[in-house]
Amino acid sequence: MYSLGNRIAWLQGPGANCAKTNPVAPRPWHLVLLGPPGVGKGTQAEKIVAEFGACHLSTGDVFRHAARNSGGTAPSPAMATALAAMKRGELVSDATVVELVRERADCLSCQYGFLLDGFPRTIDQARALDGILGNVKRKLDAAVNYFAPETLIIERLSGRRVCKQCRAGYHVANKPPRQAGRCDACGGELIQRDDDKPEAIRTRLHAYAATCNPVLEYYRKQGLLREIDASGDPDSVFAQTRAIIQKLV
Ligand code: AP5
Repeated sequence: MYSLGNRIAWLQGPGANCAKTNPVAPRPWHLVLLGPPGVGKGTQAEKIVAEFGACHLSTGDVFRHAARNSGGTAPSPAMATALAAMKRGELVSDATVVELVRERADCLSCQYGFLLDGFPRTIDQARALDGILGNVKRKLDAAVNYFAPETLIIERLSGRRVCKQCRAGYHVANKPPRQAGRCDACGGELIQRDDDKPEAIRTRLHAYAATCNPVLEYYRKQGLLREIDASGDPDSVFAQTRAIIQKLV
C-alpha cells in the first residue's frame, strides 16, 4: 500500500524537491487518465497510487495550488489568466498548460512513474506530451479513458465537496463526511469548488465535448487507449482499472 506523497516538485515547479517517503514500486507506471470532468479520475487515481505506487500528477491541482499559495503576491499574468479561465470552467490555453508540464518534465522521468490526470486535454497537448516524454526517454503504457452518462457526471460534480485545509474529497450523497460540512481527516471546513457550480459545470462539459474525440482517436491509433465504464461505484470501477493495469505487464 503506497501513499500519495507530497508532490511538491509537481505542484510548485522547478526548484522544488519532493519528500520521497514511499518505497519505489517494482515497476514505474506511465499512465494518462482521460475522461470528462467529474467522471472520477481523481478518485481512481487515489486508488491506483495506493496499489501501484505511481505519482498522481494533476494539472488542475497545479492551478489550484497556485491559487492558494500565492503568498500575498499577485500571480503572473499567464497564471492570472489561467485561474480566471478555470473559475469559469473554460480550458486554460494550450501554451500555458504545455509550458507548465514542460517545466515539470523531471516529474515524468521520476523513479515512481506517473499518472497524468487532466492532461492532455487537446490534440495539441497530446502531441506536445509525446515530445516531452521523448526528451526524458519515457513512453506511455496506456491512456485510460473513463466514461459515464452526463446526468451521473453532473450529479457527481454538483455533490462534490473538498476540505479547505487538506483537500480531501467528499460527496454529499456518495461519500459523505461523518459530520456534515467537516473533514473526517483534519476537521477542516468542506467547501464547493468554484468550477463545481452549475454554470461552470455546463461550460466544462462543453469544453470537454469539443476537444476529447481527437485525443481519444490519437491514443486509439497508437494502441494505447483502454476504455472503462465509470458508472458503477468507486470500487467496481477500480476493479476494472486494476485488471487493465495488470494486463499491461
Ligand atoms: P481538473 O482539476 O483536471 O478537473 P476535471 O478534469 O474537470 O476533473 P475533476 O477533478 O473535476 O473530476 P474527476 O474526474 O477527477 O472526478 P472526482 O474523482 O473528483 O481541471 C480543472 C480545470 O483546470 C479545468 O476546467 C481547466 O480550466 C483547467 N485545466 C486543467 N488541466 C488542463 C489542461 N490540460 N488543459 C486546459 N485546461 C486545464 O469525482 C467527482 C465526484 O464524484 C467526487 O465527489 C467523488 O467522490 C464522486 N465519485 C467519483 N467516482 C465515483 C463513483 N464511481 N461513484 C460515485 N461517486 C463517485
